[in-house]
Amino acid sequence: MAPELRRLAADKPVADVFAALEEDGAVVLEGLLDPGLLRRLNAEVEDAVASADPGMKHLNPLIAGFFGARTRHVAGLASKSRTFATEVMCHPTLLALCDAVLLPGCAEYVLNLGHIIDRGPGAEQQLLHRDELVWVHVPRPAPQLQLASMIALSEFTAENGATLLAPGSHRWPWDRTPRQDELAQAVMPAGSAVVYLGTALHGAGANRGAQAWRRGLHLSYVVGWLRTEENNVLATPPQVARTLPERAQRLLGYGVHDAIARMGGYCGMVGLRNPIDLLREGKL
Ligand SMILES: [Fe+2]
Repeated sequence: MAPELRRLAADKPVADVFAALEEDGAVVLEGLLDPGLLRRLNAEVEDAVASADPGMKHLNPLIAGFFGARTRHVAGLASKSRTFATEVMCHPTLLALCDAVLLPGCAEYVLNLGHIIDRGPGAEQQLLHRDELVWVHVPRPAPQLQLASMIALSEFTAENGATLLAPGSHRWPWDRTPRQDELAQAVMPAGSAVVYLGTALHGAGANRGAQAWRRGLHLSYVVGWLRTEENNVLATPPQVARTLPERAQRLLGYGVHDAIARMGGYCGMVGLRNPIDLLREGKL
């Protein structure tokens, strides 16, 4: 019988969610975005999603195969949606989980990628993968590098390709691939999310529906000393970043990663200053 993901209300104590994450590598958070927040987010990204080209040119043929040709992509979200930048990326539940999962391995974590993945009818099951393979040069074992989530912006069903995850796979040897019967599916209503460790095996399910698109938001964070998948400072340049709260600016990579207290150094300075201070002083 296929395994099931644990499901917890998003307002459960973070310690409970963290315990489930440590155990299974993934957990469904029910009702992470309340209906009003979900509506505002969807409204702000609607035009960008509608005009995204599923046949877009990707960085290389492997990435094109990974995503397939029936998916609309929208990234650079902090520039496109203030609701994303201030309320979703800075969601207190997600940040509290990041505190627990990522702070053991860094002085501060940052946004890795906010990416709407709108999968159309006919989209095939995605190659199962671990997100942390992006950073293949980091020797293993390593501290947890990434915490990710897939937030349902429309309902996720078995038919429309709800995300597949292999519970416990964050502890498997890296070369073990799951059997189909080891996969759980994150069936959930819009506004809920599946949160997973960057070491957990997962992939999008096939969209076997005739018409409905399945709109999800991949939202992930990484330890602040790591190169992020999206260049968030270029995607959200200073003229936008200076209108955002400081917490959002730091998540977007405008803060230095300061490991001096741990007898380390710092990364991300501009002219030996912290870009956050330069933004505040109007010098950036
Ligand atoms: Fe992934």
